[in-house]
Amino acid sequence: MSTPEPVAPPGGTPALTGHGLTLGYGNATVVHDASLTLQIGRVTALVGPNGSGKSTMLRALARLHRVTYGRVALGDGVAADELSNRAFARRVTLLSQSRPNPHGLAVSDVVAFGRHPHRRRFAALDRTDREAVAWAMGVTGTTTMATRPVDELSGGELQRVWLATCLAQRTDVLLLDEPTNHLDLRFQVEILDLARDLALQHDVAVGMVLHDLNQAAAVADHVVLLDRGHVRARGAPADVMSADLLSEVYGLRVEAFVDPDTGVVRTEPRGRHHGLRNRAGRPSHHEDTHR
Ligand SMILES: Nc1ncnc2c1ncn2[C@@H]1O[C@H](COP(=O)(O)OP(=O)(O)OP(=O)(O)O)[C@@H](O)[C@H]1O
Ligand SMILES: [Mg+2]
Repeated sequence: MSTPEPVAPPGGTPALTGHGLTLGYGNATVVHDASLTLQIGRVTALVGPNGSGKSTMLRALARLHRVTYGRVALGDGVAADELSNRAFARRVTLLSQSRPNPHGLAVSDVVAFGRHPHRRRFAALDRTDREAVAWAMGVTGTTTMATRPVDELSGGELQRVWLATCLAQRTDVLLLDEPTNHLDLRFQVEILDLARDLALQHDVAVGMVLHDLNQAAAVADHVVLLDRGHVRARGAPADVMSADLLSEVYGLRVEAFVDPDTGVVRTEPRGRHHGLRNRAGRPSHHEDTHR
């Protein structure tokens, strides 16, 4: 197979590119020759089944997973591995899928970790640091938790604290692995809106893994579909999310249609019980009159 060029939507400026990435664990290769460009001011969604290599790919882009073949480069063409850890962390951050739970620390201390790459060693937070922390906590709804120990938080609250930590880093590239995980409906929508705001108003290049294809279609300018470690499709959501392709990749019938009001593609998986009334297990045309 020839190396696919990192295709991105036309007219954009690259912020971070993985060129022909082959990635693995031990002797097992799990991502094969995959390229991905994140552009300034655009949201890119990485979708695909469990185990297709999304997290591995994002971690490689964040320099947290060794690249077997290929390279990661910043928008100015500088190879990611030429930068120091601090210099790289001023430009790229990752909200990863699995996170440690630092015991005994207050929420605001954890968010302040995000300022680490910007600070001199042992220096106190300066005004810029404090503003960045306050902003990050404000937009993630964590301000009122500032003094609470992180050990006490619910899964969704903790998720928002980690997101605040990433945002406080104020990087040009924001990588988010399943950022809506654990979040209730309102915060899911707020995180997606925030991702778009950061792209549109602050020129951030956002790359996020999402399992919800409808959320991906709503938030992303560009979608990359991974299938068993290969890039199967990339492009505008409506181009990537065709019923036949999704059905094949996910291994079940998926319908896709464009919402006439919004122009956004919507997908709907068709399980074995589709069209059946769940409780009674009867076909839906046996309509119950008591509704
Ligand atoms: N630490 C590890 N050691 C060995 N294999 C791993 C490790 N982490 C992941 N893998 C394997 O690599 C492949 C890709 O995993 P990855 O976590 O990138 O998938 P993913 O697309 O993010 O999946 P999910 O949707 O479940 O998060 C899977 O087959 C997985 O089992
Ligand atoms: Mg994953």
